Amino acid sequence: MKSGQSIILRVRGLQTWYGHVKALRDVDLSVERGQIACVLGANGAGKSTLLNTIAGVVDPRAGTIDFEGREIQCLAPDTVSRSGVVLVPEGRQLFSFLSVEENLRMGAFARGSDKSVQDDLDRVYDWFPRLLERRGQQAGLMSGGEQQMVAIGRGYMSRPKLLLLDEPSLGLSPRFTKEIFAIVKRIRDETRTAILVVEQNAAIAIAASDHVFVLELGRVVASGSAAEMRARDDIQTFYLGASAPAHATAAEPHQAPQAHWY
Ligand SMILES: Nc1ncnc2c1ncn2[C@@H]1O[C@H](COP(=O)(O)OP(=O)(O)O)[C@@H](O)[C@H]1O
Ligand SMILES: [Mg+2]
Repeated sequence: MKSGQSIILRVRGLQTWYGHVKALRDVDLSVERGQIACVLGANGAGKSTLLNTIAGVVDPRAGTIDFEGREIQCLAPDTVSRSGVVLVPEGRQLFSFLSVEENLRMGAFARGSDKSVQDDLDRVYDWFPRLLERRGQQAGLMSGGEQQMVAIGRGYMSRPKLLLLDEPSLGLSPRFTKEIFAIVKRIRDETRTAILVVEQNAAIAIAASDHVFVLELGRVVASGSAAEMRARDDIQTFYLGASAPAHATAAEPHQAPQAHWY
């Protein structure tokens, strides 16, 4: 297979503005079928803006978003979602008064009630046994980590071809974060779903990913395979918390990473 055929999403020259604020500055990135790509970046780097623009929630001012060979940057969010790009937004945004199972089934709302919905529900419960135990519980009463599991499960229930995850570790303990990323890898491995995840928690995200992009102030400033990125001194220093290499220059305009254990 030629490499171009394995790309499911290709973003080129993407610019998104909020009034006079340019939040994305000519972003180029791509995601391969069956792979996890992560976008690392500090608070305010433009990570949510990137995912929201791909999902059609925010309109770009320039650039193209090519999904499976079709430009989607002008489509409404529900059309983007029906074409197979599903966003699990920052902060989960569950229906807090509905039960866990009702929230999960909401993800399959557009699919009617065929047998495959029950199969997918069983699959989500296999990934997250805790949700099976609590299927009747009101979602708003679950812990933050459990709510994130419901949000990812609900996203999967829409049968995405590309799943967009906005900071799944936000507010979670290290234990829950590891659990969530272990399931993100199972989703890739068991269903071949492509996943684009944005994260501040660089160590865990790189460990789970095939490809890594670094976003700073709305620009992609570095990218490479997870192995290449892990080996780079600047990534080690600024994102993985290693001490500065001897040849690092003080002039580099990177911000020190913030500790991200909650
Ligand atoms: N609705 C908005 N209106 C104005 N500015 C915004 C809005 N949302 C985000 N921004 C600004 O855009 C930049 C990128 O924000 P965001 O995409 O939320 O970053 P991240 O998700 O990486 O923390 C920030 O400077 C933020 O203040
Ligand atoms: Mg964000």
